[in-house]
Amino acid sequence: MSAPSTPDPAPLDGAPSGVRRGPLVVGEWVRLVDAKGRKHNLRLETGKQFFTNRGSLDHDAMIGRAEGFTLTSSLGADYLVFRPLLSEFVVSMPRGAAVVYPKDAAQIVAMADIFPGARVVEAGVGSGALTCSLLRAVGAEGTVSSFERREDFAEIATKNVTQFFGGRPAGWRLTVGDLVEALPGTETPGTVDRVILDMLAPWECIDAVAEALGAGGIICCYVATTTQLARVVETLRAHGEFTEPQPWETLVREWHVEGLAVRPSHKMNGHTGFLVTARRMAPGERAPVKKRRPAPGAYGTDYDGPRPAGLPPQAAADPEETAAAP
Ligand SMILES: C[S@@+](CC[C@H](N)C(=O)[O-])C[C@H]1O[C@@H](n2cnc3c(N)ncnc32)[C@H](O)[C@@H]1O
Repeated sequence: MSAPSTPDPAPLDGAPSGVRRGPLVVGEWVRLVDAKGRKHNLRLETGKQFFTNRGSLDHDAMIGRAEGFTLTSSLGADYLVFRPLLSEFVVSMPRGAAVVYPKDAAQIVAMADIFPGARVVEAGVGSGALTCSLLRAVGAEGTVSSFERREDFAEIATKNVTQFFGGRPAGWRLTVGDLVEALPGTETPGTVDRVILDMLAPWECIDAVAEALGAGGIICCYVATTTQLARVVETLRAHGEFTEPQPWETLVREWHVEGLAVRPSHKMNGHTGFLVTARRMAPGERAPVKKRRPAPGAYGTDYDGPRPAGLPPQAAADPEETAAAP
């Protein structure tokens, strides 16, 4: 009798989840974790062996079993065998560009309010990590329209997304091109619910995004540095048809819990990126100008970025000159 195998990775109908149930079958990916937490991903094939520096493991000893078991190698090392979760897949899949880490993808899905049925635009697609979270969140009725200007990255992302879901999700469209140039010809103005930007210069895309977003829609930008954060926030403010941008970051600290030794982990990912969200006003409507006066010198002579409307003249003065004035 031949071993069970995965269905043809054709376009997928229904809500894409990337989750499979039942016994492990030929052609699907599993993740092995040893006693020290070292991870290996492999695709199951009949008659094959997987070699580690702690001996070999037979694929046939995994095929047909329910995931969640311990397998011992030829040299006596134990390995946990499970199907990879999305959060595990994205940090081990092949990469072109840096990926959005699961803690930030979770924030994006929650705080950019990605909902079943949403029409989402995303750029750049990079390696496709965030794309997987967005596709899951929009479900069978939603669409994710991804833009990537590098053809080689678009190919990597296509392979990753297709591998994770076991086919190409029906609601996914990938356009190779620059967002600013390609968006107007791809999405009808005012019809997009959410836009997620993960790129070097998101501020260059704000006008195009404002055109595509419907009233009440959300823009969410993910940036790595404080200079990028400042520029995108000020550009959104200066645009005038977005609400006051909300910038933040999250820090995740793991804990060591063992008997009486309960303490924070010594290791921590100190920084991944910053997030900022803002909502699209109805066309022609402007958000109220901030009543609070900016910090002294915030927009002083050294500041050369975009300036929000209605800035009081004192806010533009140099703080030292202001202090010295009679
Ligand atoms: C950090 S990566 C995105 C990673 C992706 N979010 C993920 O989770 O795998 C940034 C990508 O944006 C692309 N990019 C930058 N500016 C762009 C633009 N204006 N239009 C389309 N893609 C752009 C780059 O080529 C790069 O692949």
